[in-house]
Parts: sequence; structure tokens; C-alpha cells
Amino acid sequence: CGIVGYIGKREAAPILLEGLQRLEYRGYDSAGVALAHRGRLRVTKAAVRVGELRTLVGEDNPAPVGIAHTRWATHGEPTDVNAHPHLDAEGRIAVVHNGIIENAEQLRAKLIASGVEFASDTDTEALAHLIAARLRDGAETLEDAVRGALHQVEGAYGIVVLDVKNPGEIVVARNGSPIVLGIGDGEMFVASDLAALVRHTQRVVYLDDGELATLKAGDYRTSTLQAKRTDKTPTEVELSDEDYQLDGYADYMRKEIGEQPEAVRRALRGRLDERFSTARLGGLRLDPRELRSIRRVKFLGCGSAYYAGQIGAGLVEELARLPADAEPASEFRYRNPVVDPETLYVAVSQSGETADTLAAVQELSRKGGRVIGAVNAVASAIARECGSGVFLHAGPEVSVASTKAVTNMNTTFAMLALLLGRVRDLSVADGRRIVEGLDALPDHIEEVVRTQDEPIAEVARKFAEARHMFFVGRVRGWPVAREGAQKLKEISYVHAEAYQAGELKHGPIALIDPSMPSVVIVPDDELLVKNIGTMEQIKARGGPVIAVTNAQLPEGLADAELRVPRTEPELDPILFGIPLQLLAYHLATALGRDIDKPRNLAKSVTVE
Ligand code: G6P
Repeated sequence: CGIVGYIGKREAAPILLEGLQRLEYRGYDSAGVALAHRGRLRVTKAAVRVGELRTLVGEDNPAPVGIAHTRWATHGEPTDVNAHPHLDAEGRIAVVHNGIIENAEQLRAKLIASGVEFASDTDTEALAHLIAARLRDGAETLEDAVRGALHQVEGAYGIVVLDVKNPGEIVVARNGSPIVLGIGDGEMFVASDLAALVRHTQRVVYLDDGELATLKAGDYRTSTLQAKRTDKTPTEVELSDEDYQLDGYADYMRKEIGEQPEAVRRALRGRLDERFSTARLGGLRLDPRELRSIRRVKFLGCGSAYYAGQIGAGLVEELARLPADAEPASEFRYRNPVVDPETLYVAVSQSGETADTLAAVQELSRKGGRVIGAVNAVASAIARECGSGVFLHAGPEVSVASTKAVTNMNTTFAMLALLLGRVRDLSVADGRRIVEGLDALPDHIEEVVRTQDEPIAEVARKFAEARHMFFVGRVRGWPVAREGAQKLKEISYVHAEAYQAGELKHGPIALIDPSMPSVVIVPDDELLVKNIGTMEQIKARGGPVIAVTNAQLPEGLADAELRVPRTEPELDPILFGIPLQLLAYHLATALGRDIDKPRNLAKSVTVE
């Protein structure tokens, strides 16, 4: 979900709506705005996209203060009444909220028993009633009322609160869901994400968990839930509005696919040590002796970040000969994991906010595990919780389907594996091979995007009728296949399943027929013959084959080939991901899908 708030001298409505547009990738089930003007609260909300909300809000809105929200449904269906902002019974208090109130049912029951009528099914509405009750009971300021209400609340939240009787200030609070203040000149902004702020200001303050702030047009004051002042100094962010422009592209996903050469260059910059054929990752804060004491590496992440972690584990095993694996953070956190002090845990996340990944990190910290972050968003919760790690430097990613962040995760893990390898048995010669391979990677990616875009679009059109697809890979190709299938599912809604090539014959091959194409990952490595065998098995059952390859394949074996340049075999998983992004993109485009806002999804899931 996305939150925006404004208080200042200009009309709030256009600023809020424009901010919401920027945050729409955070959730797009419903949207709403509350404006306070001359003692009246004007609320417009509906189960619509921001574009339509704009029409509903209309033109004539002089209010200089307001709050707004775009939602990804958790409690209660995406309907008009469940859209935020939520109000108390009197229509005095308006609240927008990200996160989940865990004791919402108890709070609701108590409030109902005391005579309150609820208008929606959301957990958020209880907050509005609680705050209003505090004010009725004599809380002196809105901040005190919010603080009091939050003492009754368990769960995660980022909230912004508006009181129509006191429109000279808005109150915000954070616990587990991000809130950033933007400091303007005689005006203040607040949002759940920098994307909504950078058009107006580069001076920001990140709230910490358990912190509140009162914003007035000309200043702000931060404090803790215990009413202790926290005097925070603003930081300057390097992002500007330009980083969020479409630059003539039809959508963010295609733009971000094209940005990958530059993104990878940024990830590599200053980190390749040609002299010693290794990588320099100062943010890990681990000296060679500590690096050597690591006996195992485990990657934790969700969705694409988990598949990237699997690629990372493969790289660590190959280059450092250390046992390594990846696990969904959402599983790890709930299964009472055995935490081993000699294992290096790597928390992988683009947003740095994914609730399941954050919880896994917290579980590790509680158990004394050694955890580092591999995170794109600087100052995010996971980056801060980890304290050390390696930033991905992919730049802001707006498309819900992750592309450049995933490629930068993979690239970063190759450097981590190289570093771990070079303090062990990876030779200088092999280290140099990997350094050179990494160095050439941006150009190779560029070549794929430049030369393969059109041919892949053609293949996508040819197979656009398929309702089901297999993605098949072996060893290095297996996580590549998984991520490829995930990408296709996410944006095209075509049922895609990934299988290890060798497992195909043990069951799933029963599904192969002419209507079931298989995308097969076929690097020109020591397993080439095996993968050719897999393609033959598929062909023998009448299944069409799309090969992603840098090898010379027997004539007529594949019905289509997506070509990839040669790199070092260990780095193939990074490069082979690129044509699969383009395949998913063009297939979804051929089917007329909403590329940047696929149904039911959100860019970052800050709830469990
Ligand atoms: C959501 C997105 C996925 C993403 C996952 C992890 O489910 O829809 O595309 O891979 O979160 O996100 P993170 O920000 O932690 O990398």
C-alpha cells in the first residue's frame, strides 16, 4: 500500500493525487483522499485506480492539508467502503494506514460494545475510533491522542492522521511500515516511499519504529511512543523526479529491462579488484579471517529475491566450495530454524521492507545468527536491521515484476562468491576469469536487449495462445527456469511451472503435448548433452521447445531459439535471465496485460 500526506500553502489535492500515482505500484485495489477545509472533511474513496480517483475528486479543492492512500487489500475485500482513509463515527478523524493491526478483532469488539458502529471491515477503522475517543476523553493534542491509541494497538503500522478540528497539523507514526517525511519550504510532505516525495524535496527524515511526528506547514517534531523527543537531522537523498520518469517507454518494466547494463555497471563499480582477482565488499565488515571462518551460506528472500538467492547459493558452492542453499524467508521464520553460528545468512530484498524477510532477519538476530543484507533500498528496514551487507545499486524499481534488481542481486552474489572463494581455494587464474567475466557482463546484457528484443517478441507472439508452459533447467539453469516461470506467471497470468530437467521424465512429462511449450535453459557447458537429451524427450512427445542458449544446437531440435552471448559458465545464470524477462514481457504484451500493475500483486508486501 502507499501513503501520502501534505500540509502547507498550496492546494493539497493535486500534490496528493500525483504522489499516489507514483505509489500506485505499491497496491492498486482501491484509492482515497481526505481533505480538511473550513471545518469540513471531504473524503473521496473508491475501489478504483488513481486515474479514476482523480476524476472523482474533481478540480475545485482549495484545502491546503490532506492525506491519501492506495491500497493492496489484506483485511476486507477491495471495495469502496474498505478503501482508505477511514473515519471515526463523527467524521472528525481521518486515518490512512499501511500494515496490519493484529488485535483488530478485540479492539473492534470492545468498541462495538461501547456503542461504536463500524462502517468497514478493515482493521484500520478501529484506529480512527480509538483516536477520536482519546480526544473526547480530553487528550490535549492530536499527537497525544494518537500516542494513546497506539498504546492499545498490536501489530505493524505506518499511519497518517488528520483531525478536521485542528487542520494546522497532521500526525504520523511508524512501527514496521515505512514513513518518510519530506521537508519543503513552508510545507511538509509525508509518504511511505521516497517515490512520492522526490518531485518536491530532497530533504528527508526517515522515521524509526516506535516513532511519531507532528507536521505543521513550517516545521516538524519527532518523538517516541513514550513521548521522549527524538531530534532527527534531515538527510539529502540523491534521487530526483527524473529517476522515476518513463522516458518514452510504454511501461516501467521495459524501461527497467533496458536499464540493466547501467545498473550492473553501478553494482560492479569499485568492487572488482583486478590485482588480486577478487571482489571488494567493504559493507560486509568482514576481514579475511572472519570470511574464512564461515562454513556455510544461506540466502533468505521472498519471490524473485528467493530465486536470486538460489542462484547465489549455486555461485557460492561453485566458486567457494562452501555448502550453500536458499530458502523462502516466509518458511524460515516459522519453522524454528536451527541457527548455526558458522553460517553466513544473507537477507535478500529489493525493497528492504518485505515483512517475511524482515521477520527472518529478526529471528536470526534473536538467535545470534550472523546476517548480512543484500538490499536495494538504502535506509530500508531490512538494511537497517542487518547493519552490514552489500547494497544492490539497481536504482529505483517501479515495475511490480522485478528485473534490474534481480539481475543486480545475481551479480552481487557472484562477487560475494568470488570473495569467499578467493580467501579459500579459488585460484588466481579462476578468480581473474570471473573478474573479467563480470566486467564484460554489462556489454553482454546490452547485446541481448539490443539484438534479441524483436526476435523474442516474435517468439512470444507465436506462443501467445499457450495456456500452460514448462520452464526447464538443470543445475545452473534450474533457478533461472524458476525465475523465468515466476516472471511469466506474474505479468501474463499464463500458468508456468519450472522443473529440473532431469525430473521432467519422473512425472510431469505426462503433461507434454503440442499445446504445452517448454522453455529449456541450455547453456554450452558440461551438461549440454544432457539438456539436448531433455529437449529430445519433449520433442518425442510432440511438445514445442523454446531453447534459451549460447550453444550450437542440432538443427531442427528447437522450435525457437533465444540467443545469449557467451560468458564464463559460472555466470550464465545471470545472463540467461535476461531473455526470459523479455519473453514474459512480450507474451504479456501480446495478451494485452497491464504490465506494470499485474492483478492481485503489489511491489512490496509489508504484511505477513
Ligand atoms: C513481492 C513482489 C515480488 C518480489 C517479492 C520480494 O511479492 O510481487 O515481485 O519478488 O515481493 O520483494 P523484495 O522487495 O523483498 O525483493
